[in-house]
Amino acid sequence: MENVHILSHPLIQHKLTQIRQKDTPTGQFRQLINEIAGLMVYEMTRDLPVKDIPIETPVTKATGHVIAGKKLVIVPILRAGLGMVDGILQLIPTARVGHIGIFRNEETLMPQEYFAKLPNDIAQREVYIVDPMLATGGSAIAAINAVKKRGATQVKLICLVGAPEGVAAIQQAHPDVPLYLAALDEKLNEHGYIVPGLGDAGDRIFGTK
Ligand code: PRP
Ligand code: URA
Repeated sequence: MENVHILSHPLIQHKLTQIRQKDTPTGQFRQLINEIAGLMVYEMTRDLPVKDIPIETPVTKATGHVIAGKKLVIVPILRAGLGMVDGILQLIPTARVGHIGIFRNEETLMPQEYFAKLPNDIAQREVYIVDPMLATGGSAIAAINAVKKRGATQVKLICLVGAPEGVAAIQQAHPDVPLYLAALDEKLNEHGYIVPGLGDAGDRIFGTK
């Protein structure tokens, strides 16, 4: 699969297995989603370019290395994407955060956008769109469309669990957007839920069901 990266670090697999289990309580679920998001971004940023800068330690002058790439904006797809933001900000505290509200119509499974607030300079930033679930791919495609419409050219999509149907849809609609997953699951069921999946991510993060 081109442009699809499965980040299967043992810590990620372990934490993902915990959140898949139906009896994992809301607080723990929320904490683990953030931890997995942080670990995924740690893995993804391994090859970020760095540049040399002169520094002075308490002992001597030296050369330090700081990140040289584009500035970052994290864009969670509301609601469930919100659950990944803090875990990423812990690693990259200077990142901006934009928001896109999209929900799936439960009957048609079509995405409906209800909110968008993004930084004005999004065209100059690298964009990480985050959402725990990639099911049909409709929500992620709509979110990518929304940031590209505002000038974003460097976009990455980070999801915890993906279905083959969603991966194919992203590759078809946005072949330039790399996709990062913690796991690629088996299929979608007749209600559009990922199997084995982890259920409704938004409801499990916010305790709404
Ligand atoms: C879930 C999930 C994704 C979307 C995935 O959100 O967080 O955004 O479904 O499905 P898709 O790939 O078929 O579009 P939901 O619509 O349940 O909204 P919520 O996060 O507010 O609960
Ligand atoms: N949205 C979810 O939250 N879970 C799924 O399995 C599919 C879509």
